Amino acid sequence: MQKLIVNGGQRLRGELALQGSKNSALPIMAAALLSGEECVLKNCPKLTDVFAASRILNCVGCKCTFSGNTAVISSENVSENTIPEELMREMRSSIIFLGAMLGRTGECTVCCPGGCELGPRPIDMHLAALKKMGADIKESFGRIICRVPGRAHGARISLPFPSVGATENIILCAVTAEGETVINNAAREPEICDLCGFLRACGAEISGDGESRIVISGKDRLHGCEYSIMPDRIAGATYLCMTAAAGGEIILTNACVQAMEPFLSVLEQTGCSIYTTENRIFLRSGSRLKAVSDRIRTMPHPGFPTDAQAVIMSALVTADGTSVFEENIFDCRYRHTDALVKMGADIQVLGKIAVIKGVEKLYGANVEATDLRGGAAMVSAALAAEGKTEISGISHIDRGYEKVEEAVRRLGGSIKRV
Ligand code: EPU
Repeated sequence: MQKLIVNGGQRLRGELALQGSKNSALPIMAAALLSGEECVLKNCPKLTDVFAASRILNCVGCKCTFSGNTAVISSENVSENTIPEELMREMRSSIIFLGAMLGRTGECTVCCPGGCELGPRPIDMHLAALKKMGADIKESFGRIICRVPGRAHGARISLPFPSVGATENIILCAVTAEGETVINNAAREPEICDLCGFLRACGAEISGDGESRIVISGKDRLHGCEYSIMPDRIAGATYLCMTAAAGGEIILTNACVQAMEPFLSVLEQTGCSIYTTENRIFLRSGSRLKAVSDRIRTMPHPGFPTDAQAVIMSALVTADGTSVFEENIFDCRYRHTDALVKMGADIQVLGKIAVIKGVEKLYGANVEATDLRGGAAMVSAALAAEGKTEISGISHIDRGYEKVEEAVRRLGGSIKRV
């Protein structure tokens, strides 16, 4: 079992080019299935979740290969309609292949992605929408068997909540469906726009992405393309929080500044100096951070992102004053707080609320990552802490951060993988 060993207390300083976005790469890889030709994806992050997506593509008959940060996906052949359980379980977001497979072959069997470290993650909205588009769905013994007799058809779909995954699955099924699909209360996350940008490059007709009403006109065929995946706004938030927590200066290049505004406006309240240009972010963290006086409420985009909740908390645990979080997206997204408390933080959690009273100092400890962003928060806290921290469970971190230890070392942090 691998661990990260961090010796805290060093200021960070340096320049880092942001990796491509995990949460864009995954649906875009599923979307490549629909092209029926070769797609070249640049700026594709090398992550265990991305490799899991490539195994799914290879398993259904496509060919996915990597050369550096370029993925080449050939989807001329799709010969298999079942995604095996072990691949579904490897990555919860594999459910995103459902809409793409229905669009491509009209048939797909998956297993329930199940509950996970963030609490229950139902897929009721995905299935209800696909049914409206003509899919016949049967669930038996944990398997979901979906078939569209003939071709899926357009529909008017109003989501009860702007689910990212459900919006993506509907778009994936709709781009080759017959007629027009309208999604009301669609997710507005930047990664939805990136998926639509890719699909448009493949010939799809989509408008309204980035707004809450998306309109898709189904096409008979799509084609291959070359596309560059957007930078990862959550990895960006993470490296900024690490520098804010440990103190120092960072320049993020290849950054998606506009997409990060909801996060940056909160981080700025901690007293860090932040300057941005179109695709660069400079942050300086000098003296002790200030607590954030307004409650930090996680909300769908353009609200504060749930994926950045844990990492900004890792910086606020040593801020001057009390900060309050309200986690509104997932039921169980405070599991990192036990580790932060073990390192000396003062955190009280009650349901969706977490109250953080800033302490003077954190101390190194042995902690275990239980989810991706929580694990990143532990690395950040460890960089700010006095002494040595050993972090186990780091396979969670590898799902979303490309060589996290190399990035931190480039900034002057003392970290190694053993
Ligand atoms: N939900 C339902 N029913 C559904 C779908 C969602 O009740 O059919 C609920 C979920 O249980 C959750 C909420 O709606 O409470 C939001 O879920 P959403 O569908 O928006 O999230 P997701 O598609 O499962 C993506 C990201 C997550 C990110 C969320 C919210 C990917 C691969 N995953 O998940 O990213 O937190 O959107 O922004 O895009 C991460 O990167 O660490 C991560 C967890």
